[in-house]
Amino acid sequence: MRRKIIVANWKMNTSLDEAINLIIDIKNLIGDDYAVLCVPYTHLGTAQELADDRIGIGAQNLCSREEGAYTGEISGKMLASFGVEYVIVGHSERRKYFSENNTDINAKLKIAIKNDLSPILCFGESLEQRDKGNYLEIIKTQVEEALQDLNAQDLSSVILAYEPIWAIGTGQTASPQQAQEVHVFVRKLISENYSPELANKICILYGGSVKSSNAKEIFKEKDIDGALVGGASLNASEFIKIVKAI
Ligand code: PGA
Repeated sequence: MRRKIIVANWKMNTSLDEAINLIIDIKNLIGDDYAVLCVPYTHLGTAQELADDRIGIGAQNLCSREEGAYTGEISGKMLASFGVEYVIVGHSERRKYFSENNTDINAKLKIAIKNDLSPILCFGESLEQRDKGNYLEIIKTQVEEALQDLNAQDLSSVILAYEPIWAIGTGQTASPQQAQEVHVFVRKLISENYSPELANKICILYGGSVKSSNAKEIFKEKDIDGALVGGASLNASEFIKIVKAI
C-alpha cells in the first residue's frame, strides 16, 4: 500500500508566537494521525522542539549549492542538522518570483537527497498552458528535467506534488478527474523512466485550494496520495479536517 500524507505549506506566514499556537492546536486535534508541517526557516527549531512523532517538520526551500559564500542562503546540511525531514522543492511561487528553473530544482533535489531529506517536488501548468492543451508535455518536461540523473534509489525518498498554478491560492480547485488524469500520467512516466514498482510506490500529492469541503472528493481518486495544503493549513481545525479526510 502506498503511503498517504498531508503536508502543510505555511508559506511566508506566521510570527513565532502564531506558529507556536498553531502547532499546539494541531497537536491537540490530530489524535493518532500524522501530518507534515513545512514552516518558515526561522520557526524550524521551535517547530522541531514542539513536534512529536505525529508531526514531521519540513522546510519550504533550500539552496542549490552545498555550502560557502552564498549570503542569506540555507543549505541542505543546515536543515538536516535541525532534524528537518522534508523540504519543498520547485514550488511555483519560487519558479515565478525567484526565477527558479528546472536546472536549479534538479540541483536542489540532489542536495536534499544527499542530506537524507525527503524532497517534495512541485510541478504544474499555468492556466494558459492548460487552455492550450499541451499541459501534459509541460509537466513531462518539468518532471524529467527536475529528476535528471537521479536513480531509482534516489527517487525512493522523493514525494511528488502536482500543483496546477491556476489552482494555487485562487479558490479554484482542479476537479478530482483533472487531478487524477495528471497523477496517472506522471505515474506512467515514472514507470517508463524507472520501473513499474517504483511508480506504484511513489507518493503523488495534489495541491491547489484544497479545503475541508473538497478534500474527501479529491482523495477518492486512486492515484492521489494526499495533499499539499497552503491557505487552509493556517487554521488548525480546518487543516485537521483535511488530515482526517485521507
Ligand atoms: P493553496 O496553496 O492551498 O493555498 O492553494 C497550495 C500550495 O501552494 O502549496
